[in-house]
Amino acid sequence: MKSVTRILVTGAGGFIGHHLVNRLKQEGHWVRGVDLKHPEYEASAADEFEVRDLRNWDECVSATRGSIDEVYNLAADMGGIGYITAFHAAIARNNILINAHMLEAARQNGVQRFLFSSSACVYAQSKQKEADVVPLQEEDAFPAEPEPGYGWEKLYAEELCRYYWHDYKFETRIVRFHNVYGPLGTYDGGKEKAPAAICRKVALAANGDPIEIWGDGHQTRSFMYVDDCVEGLLRIMASNYRDALNLGTEEIVSINQLTDLVCEIAGKRLVKQYNLSGPQGVRGRNSDNSLLRRTLGWQPSISLRQGLTLTYPWIQKELQAAGRLRIIESVSAA
Ligand SMILES: NC(=O)c1ccc[n+]([C@@H]2O[C@H](COP(=O)([O-])OP(=O)(O)OC[C@H]3O[C@@H](n4cnc5c(N)ncnc54)[C@H](O)[C@@H]3O)[C@@H](O)[C@H]2O)c1
Repeated sequence: MKSVTRILVTGAGGFIGHHLVNRLKQEGHWVRGVDLKHPEYEASAADEFEVRDLRNWDECVSATRGSIDEVYNLAADMGGIGYITAFHAAIARNNILINAHMLEAARQNGVQRFLFSSSACVYAQSKQKEADVVPLQEEDAFPAEPEPGYGWEKLYAEELCRYYWHDYKFETRIVRFHNVYGPLGTYDGGKEKAPAAICRKVALAANGDPIEIWGDGHQTRSFMYVDDCVEGLLRIMASNYRDALNLGTEEIVSINQLTDLVCEIAGKRLVKQYNLSGPQGVRGRNSDNSLLRRTLGWQPSISLRQGLTLTYPWIQKELQAAGRLRIIESVSAA
């Protein structure tokens, strides 16, 4: 019989955290979710859900109380490229407080394993200057030249995890996500990422309308469907690998290709209009999964087409439920 593990998920009110809680409950574990807010689109499946501000030490101590075996530390102040390039000071301060306090509180409360959710934003920017980028291997984070603010904080928190293993033999896992998307993710309001933003814009547009693209659309990324992300999280937590691992797909696409794919799924033809002053981030970024494959014997396998085919209808349905699609339809019919 499978043993029940007591698990804390921070950021359980957010996109990946909410999906992770669902999966952990399906696997039969006991789960406490903690976040500043409840999940936006459906109730949490967690056994306990606590609203806490994890920038505060006392809240981290309370969150990790009561014989917790594993912590998935996903709480972070974050958003898409527009958000993380606009708020360096607040993001860096908020996240370093969360991560430093969560690590120490988990250690003091006897947690067995601690997983830190890092990001591909830790990679040296000089290695991401071409759209046709060489996929990033874990060692490419050094010499350090990460994304300002958010990337520096993630890289520093990774180091902190390594120090905790070195000095205290505290078991840490470090996961570098490359752009995660899927249903129940933020699609509006400024914190959304490219796939969700493009799905929203396509859903709101009528056939033949213009669609705004930030930059010239030739910038490249890889995108991972959230089910692959959750599967990878469970596997990395269970592994014995303590250093950083990429978790992403190797399916690189330009933002133009991403837009064309969403248009195809939606059955619409739109006219791209480029906003060259819009934030773009690095020119090209892709994951090299060699180390992930060697370590886990597994890698994400859901294609972008499969993932978007599941994501676009969800965003369309949300917009419909909010009454926003009807408005567009009646405006364009007028
Ligand atoms: N989604 C991606 O593409 C991606 C890429 C790289 C890294 N990551 C990392 O993965 C993790 C989860 O990302 P996500 O996409 O689910 O983001 P998300 O914004 O949906 O979830 C993060 C959650 O953390 C919560 N939070 C923020 N500050 C908090 C605080 N002080 N106390 C308690 N909770 C707080 C937020 O309320 C939010 O619900 C984050 O650490 C993020 O940096 C995500």
